[in-house]
Amino acid sequence: MIRRIDTDRLRLVPITMDDIDLLVELDADPEVMRFITGKPTPRIDVAEIVRSSLGHRWIAHDADLQFVGWFGLRPSGPGEAELGYRLNRRQWGRGYASEGARAVIDVGFAGPDLVRIWAQTMAVNERSRRVLEACEMSYVRTFQLDWLEPLEGAEQGDVEYEIRRS
Ligand SMILES: CC(C)(COP(=O)(O)OP(=O)(O)OC[C@H]1O[C@@H](n2cnc3c(N)ncnc32)[C@H](O)[C@@H]1OP(=O)(O)O)[C@@H](O)C(=O)NCCC(=O)NCCS
Repeated sequence: MIRRIDTDRLRLVPITMDDIDLLVELDADPEVMRFITGKPTPRIDVAEIVRSSLGHRWIAHDADLQFVGWFGLRPSGPGEAELGYRLNRRQWGRGYASEGARAVIDVGFAGPDLVRIWAQTMAVNERSRRVLEACEMSYVRTFQLDWLEPLEGAEQGDVEYEIRRS
């Protein structure tokens, strides 16, 4: 089970089913979804995503209690978890993504189980790559996914980054 995390500027609380509206609104912004699906996420899908992320996703607010976004550490296999994050566009450019992601990584490695935290993003998602690099994650590989409806930049592939406990 996850707990609340406080950073210098953010408060991260475990996600609940009451957060569905916030995430529907977040995913309704085409710029936010540009490198993810390219379209809003239907409410029914958001509800299922929230349900399946209970216990490994946090909702972040700033000091003024404004919604910032979400951070996740999804178990992906023995000793491993996938780092994810998505921020409201109004909150970009403030260092919040790196601050929250670093805090989540620290919490992940504070427990006994994780040896590796990894993340993937489109190669052209430079903002996201800067967040991963700010978290001292290392580039692992570039790979090609088979998209039914390729997003702009998909031809440059996806990239994976990782950080290990050691
Ligand atoms: C990816 C995403 C989280 C990055 O957000 P971001 O705001 O660019 O990242 P950070 O919070 O780390 O902020 C870094 C920026 O804040 C600036 N900044 C301002 N104050 C800062 C501070 N106190 N500390 C650090 N950086 C600060 C940095 O200079 C940097 O600006 P730049 O992008 O102009 O170089 C955001 O664009 C997003 O949610 N995108 C949609 C979802 C997505 O693509 N997720 C990843 C898919 S895998």
